[in-house]
Amino acid sequence: MLKLGVNIDHVATVREARYRGRTEGEPSPVDAALQCEAAGAHGITAHLREDRRHIVDRDLTQLRERISTRLNLEMANTPEMVGIASRVRPNIVCLVPEKRQEVTTEGGLDVLAHETSLGETRRSLNGVGIEVSLFIAPDLEQVRASARVGAQFIELHTGSYAESFRSPDLRRHELQRLVEAARLAHELGLRVNAGHGLTVANTPALFVVPHLEELNIGHSIISRSIFVGLTASVKEMLQAMSGYTA
Ligand code: PXP
Repeated sequence: MLKLGVNIDHVATVREARYRGRTEGEPSPVDAALQCEAAGAHGITAHLREDRRHIVDRDLTQLRERISTRLNLEMANTPEMVGIASRVRPNIVCLVPEKRQEVTTEGGLDVLAHETSLGETRRSLNGVGIEVSLFIAPDLEQVRASARVGAQFIELHTGSYAESFRSPDLRRHELQRLVEAARLAHELGLRVNAGHGLTVANTPALFVVPHLEELNIGHSIISRSIFVGLTASVKEMLQAMSGYTA
């Protein structure tokens, strides 16, 4: 069964719009996470950014204490973040590239260019019992480098696929890249997740991609929840994902 990890960053984005710098405020990303779990989500994803623009350190501690599914911490490969992960002990860390000016995570990690430091971080996190995933574009060289780093998972960046969704030729091309990357990853012993830009509308066409275990989805679920509530929004996404058999 294809699992859903709900990214609750944007609940914190709304809180920080009003309560930045304060020690409490609404809406609570932790309460949102609990509601996502009750609606059937299989995991909770949160990105602690260097500038703390949405999720802040106390959110992570509380998420770790209170959720009962898996906690997936997205973070940059920096000593500060590795220290925080080692203390908080999420189930899995997804290493992502991070630029201060970007609105969201724009591209995949350049694993080839940072193999040594990613390998060190991977060993250090695995050493304290945390699984490691690398967020990469569907590029075969990046998949091979991820296997050399020894990561347990890759998360395939579906942003280009989502952008191409309305142009049939481009969409076919992006799907083919995802299919080939997932196949190679599986052959090399990597487990495969995917995410970024996924919606109820564009997720079913992704089902041609084999070996997917989990989709990490944030913006579309939180956006839709404004109109139908978080429980219904999570359930709609689970329903959209339910036809996956590959
Ligand atoms: N996966 C990763 C690694 C991400 O950085 C993000 C965005 O924070 C997502 C998944 C979720 O993307 P979206 O908010 O577009 O669903």
